[in-house]
Amino acid sequence: MAKLYLVGTGPGSSDYLTKAAIKVAESIDVLVGSQRALDLFPGFSGETLVLRARNMDEMMKKSISLVDEGKDVAILSTGDPGFSGVLKPILRLRDDLDLEVVPGISSLQLAAARLQIPWDEVNLLTLHGKGNSEVILGFLDNEKPTMVLPDFRVEQLAQFLLENGVNPERRVAVCEKLSYPDERVFKGSLEEVADMEFSYLCVMVIYSK
Ligand SMILES: C[S@@+](CC[C@H](N)C(=O)[O-])C[C@H]1O[C@@H](n2cnc3c(N)ncnc32)[C@H](O)[C@@H]1O
Repeated sequence: MAKLYLVGTGPGSSDYLTKAAIKVAESIDVLVGSQRALDLFPGFSGETLVLRARNMDEMMKKSISLVDEGKDVAILSTGDPGFSGVLKPILRLRDDLDLEVVPGISSLQLAAARLQIPWDEVNLLTLHGKGNSEVILGFLDNEKPTMVLPDFRVEQLAQFLLENGVNPERRVAVCEKLSYPDERVFKGSLEEVADMEFSYLCVMVIYSK
């Protein structure tokens, strides 16, 4: 029976790609992933399918049908497949596959390392694909830092929090383009972030006070 691998590729730089991920790519027939994830495997000579925000669902189904046809397939997931990654949509589509999850270093882990936050006592949250969900408001007063993947732009999330009564002076950090040469870590107030510009590749931390 052919197998489907969900492979975490880390935050972006090949420095954070695991040997386990590389080993899987050496053994499979089809590699599926965003262009930035596929670029991490320049030596791969099999079939590749490019994942884009708009063809996610189609590519998940296509990957499963290739496995049904007898091909070993790996879907690359930035960071870790289990956090706001491909694990959830795949399990929703099929629960009877021969599946292996190869963990990767999540952008949240690298953000915690950069900011020296022990992440066993934080609120971990993704708003990816959910808009500026009010869910986040329920986490901000439990004495723990909140680490969040914004839905789109981090400055819009900051504006949403201000509109919902969070103190403009609240301490926050934004970790942008982690592991890339142009990585940026900004520490300041919520109000400052609301007035800045960041790329879509950001982890935001809202400190407890
Ligand atoms: C679909 S989620 C995938 C998260 C991924 N599974 C993980 O564990 O990091 C994509 C979001 O993760 C965050 N992200 C991924 N790579 C990043 C990086 N290198 N630097 C900062 N944030 C990153 C951004 O918020 C991005 O919009």
